[in-house]
Amino acid sequence: MCGIVGYIGYEKAKEILLNGLEKLEYRGYDSAGIATRDDNDVTVTKAKGRIAELRKTSDNDIDGQVGIGHTRWATHGVPSYENSHPHQSTSERFTLVHNGVIENYEELRDTYIPEVTLVSDTDTEVIVQLVEYFANQGMNTEEAFTKVISLLHGSYALGLLDSEDNDTIYVAKNKSPLLVGIGDNFNVIASDALAMIQVTSEYKELKDQEIVLVQRDKVTIKDLAGNIVERDSYTAEIDASDAEKGVYDHYMLKEIHEQPAAMRRIIQAYQDEQGNLSMDSNIIEDVKKADRIYIIAAGTSYHAGLVGKEYLEKWAGVPTEVHVSSEFVYNMPLLSERPLFIYISQSGETADSRAVLVETTKLGHRSLTITNVAGSTLSREADHTLLLHAGPEIAVASTKAYTAQIAVLAILAQVVAEARGRETGVDLLPELAKVTAAIETIVDDAPKMEQIAKDFLETARNAFFIGRALDYHVSLEGALKLKEISYIQAEGFAGGELKHGTIALIEDGTPVIALATQSHVNLSIRGNVNEVVARGARPSIISMEGLEKEGDTYVIPHVHELLTPLVSVITLQLISYYAALHRDLDVDKPRNLAKSVTVE
Ligand code: G6P
Repeated sequence: MCGIVGYIGYEKAKEILLNGLEKLEYRGYDSAGIATRDDNDVTVTKAKGRIAELRKTSDNDIDGQVGIGHTRWATHGVPSYENSHPHQSTSERFTLVHNGVIENYEELRDTYIPEVTLVSDTDTEVIVQLVEYFANQGMNTEEAFTKVISLLHGSYALGLLDSEDNDTIYVAKNKSPLLVGIGDNFNVIASDALAMIQVTSEYKELKDQEIVLVQRDKVTIKDLAGNIVERDSYTAEIDASDAEKGVYDHYMLKEIHEQPAAMRRIIQAYQDEQGNLSMDSNIIEDVKKADRIYIIAAGTSYHAGLVGKEYLEKWAGVPTEVHVSSEFVYNMPLLSERPLFIYISQSGETADSRAVLVETTKLGHRSLTITNVAGSTLSREADHTLLLHAGPEIAVASTKAYTAQIAVLAILAQVVAEARGRETGVDLLPELAKVTAAIETIVDDAPKMEQIAKDFLETARNAFFIGRALDYHVSLEGALKLKEISYIQAEGFAGGELKHGTIALIEDGTPVIALATQSHVNLSIRGNVNEVVARGARPSIISMEGLEKEGDTYVIPHVHELLTPLVSVITLQLISYYAALHRDLDVDKPRNLAKSVTVE
């Protein structure tokens, strides 16, 4: 979702901003813009559509060694030139980029600036006009900016330029992510470190409602009362090549291929010196104390939670519920006496999940975030964090984060089981090693998945994914992957449930992809396949060695039956990738979607 960059130094800002925005493209956006300030003036360039459009539109001669840039994912107002950022105040003295949603912007507009003519439909324009309003009242820019911050309700990450000051970018955030990057003779701002990793790996975290003055040679952080806040910088552990596609045509394909390496990193990260699985004992204690676990997540992370529940219940012995965060926040179930909340989020920024964390923290409940992004909001605000170690995930459709989430949940369940003296019957480390090898086999078989995509999905309008038990959870994820990037209407169904209504949609030739990796339901899922075949469906069965039958489309290598989601999902990720590719679609940046959804 919206991304922000900013640069102040001695180089031409324009290129640095455009390169930074390109690195943020993966978050999802529908328009983009930059503003740079040279000795005389601030120049704003904006364009609907891709950064490439913005590059074409922006004048090559734009100088300026100070600038801000923005990718916008429309919330208030349609994607258009007028609504894209940066926005300017009436006199054009102030220029602003904003990520987030201001809840009280109408009230502020009516109270302070009823006379001002606004040119966009955005809440952002109200902020920049308010800065001008207070500056016109005699405040200096820092005072005016601070005053405005004290009035805003909602989420924001802001970067402000003042055309009368060539030496400062004014910065603040609340709930939305924003970092300051520290350079040699320059400083930058960015929604995430990946955007500016080519120019610096040193970053400072910002806390909500701090006022930050970013200048060429220094960064000053203050609280709302004007007291200076000292903050050490940290080194972002991102390899600059993580932000590149390398030899792959798309980030999604690269990330699918990175899954064996991510598995190995996870296995290593959660091992002690003796080679046993281990993690922070405080986390284990909190899980042991809980009488019920509530997993809260959205999208793909929710699907990973459904699989994780099986491990937490079967191995760790803790009753576990899995909830969609956007529902849970408005419709909280009756909670147990000693709940533990587990937030699963690749980005660690999903606003729906954060809204639940804010509530459960208020209620005094313990929390653990499982995320790919160290220092993300959900990580900072929860009591504990378990990192995914999957490396940056850039394609909007999540792949390696899903398998990493499941692996970390399995390890968590296993270490808690051990701490409780529960016998799981699973030697997880060697089993995960087998899983890693199986993923490698499937990735090597990518051409076979491409063939399945061609045979079954090339002209399909809709498709069904069915499975039972763990395979059901994976079919939900398979369907989500396919619809996200190929726009084929796809549904995941419990094999036994399809006949209770949805089977009415099966027509001659409807593709039904069935997963058959669970021995105790192998016969029944195959029975469900027969039911749809009798109504004209074209079936494609993905089974597992030992359970395969003649005619199965693909057989995954044998792994422990509770770990099959880590392996079977790779086939579905690849099938979706090739289905979208053969439809000539923008695989990494599907329409209407954002990678990290920072509004509720
Ligand atoms: C967005 C993305 C999904 C993702 C979901 C949850 O909707 O498009 O791919 O699964 O957010 O994101 P999170 O970062 O919390 O895992």
